[in-house]
Amino acid sequence: MSQSTVVADLSNLWMPFTANRQFKSSPRLFKAARGMFYTTVDDRQVLDATAGLWCVNAGHGRSEITQAVAAQLDVMDYAPSFQMGHPLAFEAATRVARFMPSGLDRIFFTNSGSESADTALKIALAYHRARGEGQRTRFIGRERGYHGVGFGGISVGGIVANRKAFSGGLISHIDHLPHTHNLAETAFTRGQPSWGGHLADELERLVALHDASTIAAVIVEPLAGSTGVLVPPKGYLERLREICTKHGILLIFDEVITAFGRLGAATASERFGVTPDILTMAKAINNAAIPMGAVAASRSVHDTIVAAAAGNAIEFFHGYTYSAHPAAAAATIAALDLYKSERLFERSAELSAAFEDAAHELRNSPYVKDIRNLGLVAGIELESRPNAIGTRAYDVFVKCFEAGVLVRCTADVLAFSPPLIVSGEQIDQIFTTVRDALRCVA
Ligand SMILES: Cc1ncc(COP(=O)(O)O)c(C=O)c1O
Repeated sequence: MSQSTVVADLSNLWMPFTANRQFKSSPRLFKAARGMFYTTVDDRQVLDATAGLWCVNAGHGRSEITQAVAAQLDVMDYAPSFQMGHPLAFEAATRVARFMPSGLDRIFFTNSGSESADTALKIALAYHRARGEGQRTRFIGRERGYHGVGFGGISVGGIVANRKAFSGGLISHIDHLPHTHNLAETAFTRGQPSWGGHLADELERLVALHDASTIAAVIVEPLAGSTGVLVPPKGYLERLREICTKHGILLIFDEVITAFGRLGAATASERFGVTPDILTMAKAINNAAIPMGAVAASRSVHDTIVAAAAGNAIEFFHGYTYSAHPAAAAATIAALDLYKSERLFERSAELSAAFEDAAHELRNSPYVKDIRNLGLVAGIELESRPNAIGTRAYDVFVKCFEAGVLVRCTADVLAFSPPLIVSGEQIDQIFTTVRDALRCVA
């Protein structure tokens, strides 16, 4: 059965972040998933080297989560979260808080990473207003940053394709730090590069330009994934923290891909020993069983906002119909239990050396101009074809899919982020398949 004959009509679905015409002329469709594998509609097994989209950290089809969701839907499908509550929402917040860096234990639920990013920006504005510094309205993002697709997220984000079509609607009062990607200095670094920590000092330059009294927050991904796996240089995040603290600017870490074990610790903050004031998460929070995201705020940020309002007034005019949806909350509790009982974050740390070695084995493969990695994340950057950026990595991605391995490509970077249950043999299979695919593309 060919992939396209399974679905009668591919035309109604307008696919997100997809070359719709290219895809529909040659579709790739999954029908099932279990453990480390997807099954395609033509019954092929495909090893998942991307945890779906950086989100299925405990592997697919975990019955503990499925059962928790089914049981919850049976008892209560939905409850409103505005001026009403349900016990699982509070329980899920308590469980999430246990995984957060010390002090970041006030949890606001969203449904996605994009919503988490915009929520974090709003919390920062509300915080400064509550302190009587409502003129702090400026945000500092970073070039090549990705914070989802809301107008706040694309405004602080630094990806031209995500910004240019919407440039008329970008929010104002934004500036950007330079990105830290520099192959002349860092190519083939294993782990954190030694070069680049000084780029955090650019924040001092922006503070001098705009004045700290106008700046609400700095938002960065501690490790950027979607824009091609950018590992933070040594000392970089520490320095951002120092400068923010010095100037009363809030530091937001977008941990949508790094929270819940990806770097061998519960969060990147824990991994790097740098604590932000606000931390966004989504992806692996409930193993991607049900859409869910969250923002963790420090007690001081939360308490400042709450204390500024009258006792019977809504303190923060923000929220979603599905914030802390009962089924998503049940999935979260079940997933966090799994992460703990199976020691998956420790496992991620233990596997990272073998993962790093396997990725760097491809150093001499055709077109490879950089390999970078940390925890269970790796990126392989390829030379681009003249005037056709991204086409070579796309061809490798398709070849790997045909050979039974799902990888991800953004521009000409291949990205790897397998579920934390990946085995040593499967790690070898992933990179052997990529090596073979690289030999077959022009
Ligand atoms: C760092 C980061 N922030 C935000 C998002 C957006 O998340 P979502 O697609 O769930 O809106 C992503 C998605 O890849 C991400 O990597």
